[in-house]
Amino acid sequence: MQLVTLKAELADAPTADSFDLIDAPTPTCPEGGMLVRTVYLSLDPYIGSRIRGRHMGEGAPRPGHDPIPGAIVGQVLESKAAGFEKGDWIHSMEGGWQATCALDAAHARKIDANAAPLSAYTGVLGMPGLTAWAGITQLAKVRTGDTVLIDAAAGPVGGTAGQIARIKGASRIVGIAGGPQKCGMVTEQYGFDACIDYKQDGWKDALADALPDGLSVFFENVSGEMAMTALGHAQLYTRGILCGLVAGYQNKERAMHALDMGFIIGKRAQLFGLVVYDYYDRWDAFTAEASDWIKSGKLNFVEDRAEGLANAPALFEKLLGGKHIGKAIVQVTEE
Ligand SMILES: NC(=O)c1ccc[n+]([C@@H]2O[C@H](COP(=O)([O-])OP(=O)(O)OC[C@H]3O[C@@H](n4cnc5c(N)ncnc54)[C@H](OP(=O)(O)O)[C@@H]3O)[C@@H](O)[C@H]2O)c1
Repeated sequence: MQLVTLKAELADAPTADSFDLIDAPTPTCPEGGMLVRTVYLSLDPYIGSRIRGRHMGEGAPRPGHDPIPGAIVGQVLESKAAGFEKGDWIHSMEGGWQATCALDAAHARKIDANAAPLSAYTGVLGMPGLTAWAGITQLAKVRTGDTVLIDAAAGPVGGTAGQIARIKGASRIVGIAGGPQKCGMVTEQYGFDACIDYKQDGWKDALADALPDGLSVFFENVSGEMAMTALGHAQLYTRGILCGLVAGYQNKERAMHALDMGFIIGKRAQLFGLVVYDYYDRWDAFTAEASDWIKSGKLNFVEDRAEGLANAPALFEKLLGGKHIGKAIVQVTEE
């Protein structure tokens, strides 16, 4: 079977050329676990940090040996785990960039192939969707009348967060994204009220125009600087979700971010650090609720797909450069 591995340890940010597609022995089914064929592979920004040993204390994969880590949707080929049978569809955060994977039962969740398109379990129903749901409903507790600002709004976290905010009663939802195509998608497909293209001159004035009464919630995906821009529009008692710092992930050094504390104190703002791991135990409940939103047309998603493991590195390079449109996924094989 095939897997994608690192050519060598990474000193700098990865490019498509940093990876090799190699043949490896097909794993055997572990006791208490299962063998799974990978159908969809999720490409996510944290993997760029993870493969350099810079994510949540998790080790980097061994070059020439280990698959690149990553979440998958796949089908059970063989099971030695109670509750899982051949043919079941599963989602796992531990699948990796490989055609077949051996998983411990603790790392697999059964998913319902009839509740939503299977690929949705990588994005809007996957880890990015759960992150959006956690920030909007569990931390910011968005309610009727909120005005919400979200950056990286065209991505699966930002786009899903805005739509869930709408479902929860927010009255105004403003996005920030790079370029007219992404901004068009944010308003047309995700239904935000406005989206500001931060690559255009004068975008901060446009943002002020889009937030005439300020904001009561912001969802920060990009940088400390963007968080401070959001706070510049904060009403008293604003809730801010600190979710990601994607603008700094490829830097050589860990970025430090200055926040103007006096300003935050004056605004009585509450800032919440979000780590999606804390919500894994509520994933099935979230999926059940969100798959109904998909069916009723309240929750839309957009995918940027590559076909086959060989094309994963190129799509990954595109993702790290922010050039993808929507959720980056690789279809490894036919459903
Ligand atoms: N805290 C958690 O537990 C958790 C869990 C999942 C994800 N996250 C974070 O949530 C954020 C969004 O994730 P996502 O999967 O939805 O990603 P995404 O939005 O599909 O991709 C990241 C986006 O960030 C924007 N960006 C801004 N500056 C960038 C730069 N210098 N380099 C590359 N991209 C840049 C780009 O959009 P524009 O072109 O619009 O700028 C890019 O498309 C990320 O920060 C991610 O790490 C956090």
